[in-house]
Amino acid sequence: MLLIKIVVGLCLVLLLAVCELNAAEKQEREARVKRGDPPKNSAAPSWVKNDGWLSKIKWRNGDNCTSWTTRLFDTKYGNGNYAKGPDNEYNKTQKDCVRGGLAIQRE
Ligand SMILES: *[C@@H]1O[C@H](CO)[C@@H](O)[C@H](O)[C@H]1NC(C)=O
Ligand SMILES: *[C@@H]1O[C@H](CO)[C@@H](O)[C@H](O)[C@H]1NC(C)=O
Repeated sequence: MLLIKIVVGLCLVLLLAVCELNAAEKQEREARVKRGDPPKNSAAPSWVKNDGWLSKIKWRNGDNCTSWTTRLFDTKYGNGNYAKGPDNEYNKTQKDCVRGGLAIQRE
């Protein structure tokens, strides 16, 4: 009985620690987005960050990083005129967006 209580207690402590870690990470990401800082190890091409695209391609209601990145690349290169596989600009930009590093403006 005591053993069960100890195990359950330990599990709760572990769960709380994990939750706190996630919350801190989320807070850090939100602060970074507010400041408009690129993420650590930002991989998106520099034109995305430097050529005004983040204010031009605005974040719309119902957007996610895939739909936003697709709209950005469709606008720059023409519809579907770019590679989407691993390790290309599209992929890296979408990843940076997910990691919260692109200061995308909102409509
Ligand atoms: C992103 O949005 C598109 C279009 O609304 C939707 O089809 C897709 O499932 C969404 N993807 C994610 C990861 O939510
Ligand atoms: C980027 O490449 C990775 C690895 O191949 C893949 O799992 C992921 O779905 C790709 N992301 C996009 C947005 O295409």
